Order: sequence, then C-alpha cells, then structure tokens
Amino acid sequence: MKLSAVTLLSILGSVSAFAPSLIGSRASTHLDARKPFISGNWKLNPQTREEAVSLATDIAGKITDSSPDADVALFVPYVFLESAMGAVDSKLMVGAEGVCPEVKGAFTGAVSTSMLDSVGVQWALAGHSERRMIFGETDDLINAQCLKIIGQGMSVMLCIGESESEYEQNLAGNVCAIQLRKGLNGISKEQMDRVVIAYEPVWAIGTGKVATPETAQSVHASCRAILAEMYDQETADATRILYGGSVTPESVDELMGQPDIDGALVGGASLDCEKFGRIINFQA
Ligand code: PGA
Repeated sequence: MKLSAVTLLSILGSVSAFAPSLIGSRASTHLDARKPFISGNWKLNPQTREEAVSLATDIAGKITDSSPDADVALFVPYVFLESAMGAVDSKLMVGAEGVCPEVKGAFTGAVSTSMLDSVGVQWALAGHSERRMIFGETDDLINAQCLKIIGQGMSVMLCIGESESEYEQNLAGNVCAIQLRKGLNGISKEQMDRVVIAYEPVWAIGTGKVATPETAQSVHASCRAILAEMYDQETADATRILYGGSVTPESVDELMGQPDIDGALVGGASLDCEKFGRIINFQA
C-alpha cells in the first residue's frame, strides 16, 4: 500500500514532537493508503467463450497467498462477462469495457449500466483512447458514462492520456488536466472512492514503447495535483492512479516502485496468462 505524503506527515507528527515544521497545515489523521490495482483490458479478444473462460481461470490461478495485497480486475467483452465472472470465483473482479449512458430505448447495439448491474458487473472502463479515437467518443459522452456508472452504484476506471504529438509538445499534463476535469464533472468528493484513474499515454498503447517510470511518475503527480484542485488533498491522496501503455513483466516492478503509480491497466500482456500473472505478482 502506498502511504500518501499527508499520511506520512501525520505518522511523523505522532512519533516526533520535534519536527513540527514538517507537519504543516495539511496534517491529517486520515490513513489514506492506496491499495494497488492491477487490471487487464482484453479489448476485442479472445475470439471464443472457451478461450475466455480458460484465460480467466488461468489468470485467477496466478493469485496466491503470496501475491501482493492488490485489487485485480479484468475488463472483458460484454458477451464473456458472466462466464468470466463464473470462472474467476471472486478472486478478481470482472468489468465491462464501456457503457452507454442511456438507460433504454432506441440505441441499437448499446449496453446500459442497469443491464450490467443486473448481471452483477460492478466495474466499467470509460474514456479509453481507442473509444475516443476509433469510436469518436467525446469528453462530454465520457462524462455522461462516468456519471451513469457512478449513479448506478458501480465503479469506473476513467482513462486519460495524451497523443504522441501532444507528448512531444510537452502537453501531457495539460491534456490530462482537461480530460480529468471534463470526465469527472459532476462527480462529488464522496463518490470519488468509486473512481480510479488510468493514465495511458496514447503513444505507449500497444506500441511496446512504455513510458519511463520517471515520465509516468511526473504525469501521475500532476494528475494528483489536479485532483487536489478539483476536490481536496485528502481526496487526491486517496484516489488510485494507474499507468497503462505497453506494461510488461519487465517494466511493471519499476513502474510500481514510483510513489504516485498505484497500479497498471494492461492490454496485450493481459492476454498471456504467464505475463499477466507476473504483473499481478509485481515486486516493488
Ligand atoms: P497495451 O494496452 O498494454 O497493449 O499497451 C493498454 C490499454 O490499452 O489499456
């Protein structure tokens, strides 16, 4: 678990009467440790229910008593949700890759939060860059999805991230700030315990070009600062921010060692049980 700066300061404050200058005005007794969160995004994979059940079963088998104390989730295609949930036997969570913000009516091909809730799904992605770019989903639509997911009593993983050209122009922090502010518009401080952020630089998704731990850490820290502005420091310190984009067994440990990286959203490597098993069993 990661202890926030505020938590560390409050621990310091309780053990040392000689370091009052360290405590500052933000001292808090709130213990806001962030539990790591490792998640897989299967996208348009695998091709059959049999493969999905077998992969989900094998991944669940990688969670053992010696695994890190982490939340683990798989975001899977709608048609595999129920069979994957049956296969993992509550060892991990199974979520949807997206929702339609409408509840019913003439929206051919759409799936609502109430439909998902009715089959026991408690998590959904919103704002993945493939939805933004390929399917043309806007910040407003993504915000409506987030509000509907939260309104349904479910939890959302909001994905944000800059394009390659934005990265090259040093705009990662600005892009993430806009996507955070627009995506979370209308979500209250109290509801933020059902929100997880996934920072996924678009240039790193599916390219093998993982962000360096230092780059990712710096964007995560700036996202946390935006959350502090939008809500407050306590909420920012309690919100988990995951990194996504070409995470592999080789890169996960160093990423997870960064103070503001609380987990991973994994695409390609989540389709390989050995690789994803190693990522679940990260060492940081
Ligand atoms: P990748 O995908 O791990 O294959 O880069 C990440 C994602 O799209 O969530």
